[in-house]
Formats: sequence, C-alpha cells, structure tokens
Amino acid sequence: MRILALNGSYRGTRGHTAYLLERVFAGARSEGAECEQIVLAQQRIERCLACDRCQRREPRFRCALDGRDDVRAIFERMAAADIVIYATPVYVFGVSALLKTLLERFYSTGDAGKMRVSAAGLFFHEIDPAICSRPFVTLVCCDNVEDETLRNALEYFRTFSRFMDAPLAGELVRNGGLLCGHGRLDQPSERVQAIYAAFEQAGRELATEGRLLRKTMKAACREVVPVPLFAWLKRIRVRAVKEKFVERAESLRRGVDQP
Ligand SMILES: Cc1cc2nc3c(=O)[nH]c(=O)nc-3n(C[C@H](O)[C@H](O)[C@H](O)COP(=O)(O)O)c2cc1C
Repeated sequence: MRILALNGSYRGTRGHTAYLLERVFAGARSEGAECEQIVLAQQRIERCLACDRCQRREPRFRCALDGRDDVRAIFERMAAADIVIYATPVYVFGVSALLKTLLERFYSTGDAGKMRVSAAGLFFHEIDPAICSRPFVTLVCCDNVEDETLRNALEYFRTFSRFMDAPLAGELVRNGGLLCGHGRLDQPSERVQAIYAAFEQAGRELATEGRLLRKTMKAACREVVPVPLFAWLKRIRVRAVKEKFVERAESLRRGVDQP
C-alpha cells in the first residue's frame, strides 16, 4: 500500500497537521505500507491563471505553468499512490489556501467542455481520474472546539468525492489542537495519548484495509475536555451561558499565569 499525504499547513513539518500525519504513518509503516508526505509549503505551487490555455491550445491538457513549478511532479506522485491523504488545518473556517491552490490546478487535467456524469449521478466535466480520483482520506485539524469550525472543510471533500468519483476512505478530525499541545506536550494526559493512538490505528487500517473503521474515526475525534458539561455546552447556542463559561475559564487562566 502506497500512502501519499499532502500537507496543506503553512507550518510545514513543525505543525500539528504534520504531527498527526506522522502518527498515521507510524501505524501504516508497522503494517508494511510505504508512506510519503508532501509538505506543500516547501513546494512551488503557482495559482491557476484561468487562462484556458490547457483547454484550447496544443498540446491539450498541458498547463501554461508546467515546468515552472512543482505541480506536475506532485500530480505524478498522486497518480502512483494507492491512497491520498488530503491534510489541512482549518484556516478561517475552511481548507487552507495552499491545498486549495493545488487542487485548482486539476482543471488542466481534462477537457472542461466534455460533459460526463459521476457515479453519484452528478453532471461534471472530464478530469484525469488517474490524478483526481484517487481513493482518499480527509484529515482536518483546528484549535477551536466547536464542531462547526470543521464543517466546511469536511463538506468540501465530501462534495469533491461525489463529483470527482474519488472514493472517500475515511475522515480524521482533530479539534482543540491547542489543548492537545499540538502533539508536543511533555506529559500528555491519557485521553490525549488515546487520541493520538487512534491516529496510529487509522494508519494500520489504511495499510491493511484501505479504509478507516467508524470506531477509529470516532476515537480520533474524541473530545479533549473530559467533562460531560463541556459536551453539553458545545451543543447549545445560548450566548449568555457560553460567556459565563469563558469568564470562568479566563479567571482560571489568569490564576495560572499570575499565581
Ligand atoms: C491563518 C490561520 C487561520 C486559522 N483559522 C482558524 C479557524 O478558523 N478556526 C480554528 O479553529 N483554527 C484556526 N487556525 C488555527 C489552526 O487551524 C490550528 O493552529 C492548526 O492546528 C494549525 O495546524 P498546523 O499546526 O499544522 O499549521 C488558524 C490558523 C491560521 C494560521
């Protein structure tokens, strides 16, 4: 099994996204998978110019930027992978611009005027399935604890899957990144350790099954704050109640900062 991760974080190898990917890779490698991470922040990725040259001029489906940046080489590595992990931090409620910039370059891979119907029954234009339709896992992380924070990024890749005929092999979701210390706590709580162990388990499943089990996805996105009241607080949308919680948390924080 060849697993290729595209890391869309501007923090590159220093970020939480990279840490989560390394945990997935540790599990996958223990089952013999070949794993590679492309840190997009270290690649040259120009934005699509929407010049339509790839659609109109010979040779067709050749981007005007081919040879001027690293995108074609990234596409080749994607085509050689059995599973792609699209890994992104949430940046302003969505997929990182870096990852999105790469995905927009898919446009040059097929005839945008040629209509087809996806397996999900949606009209779409031709794309190169060898690049765009790889089975994939979405990995999304953020610092906020509200589920709403991650919704756009997750929905984005579900839509992507339906139009691109790319099988969605699972979703790895991690909120509350700061509470997890972004993977760099000296003494992580048992709960945080269990969360990261779930990412390793996810890697083992990808290597052996090519997909993630529901219970593993659930364990990976488990609440970091082990308080039932907190889960309840997250579900409600009453501002005054949440403000009280924030006040209390702030006074505790001040107490810790200035003993
Ligand atoms: C430009 C920028 C925008 C961000 N926007 C959000 C956001 O909307 N919601 C959130 O919870 N975290 C947001 N964050 C925090 C990151 O999602 C979080 O720190 C994540 O762990 C970063 O992953 P990384 O360490 O791999 O870069 C943002 C961070 C940056 C740099």
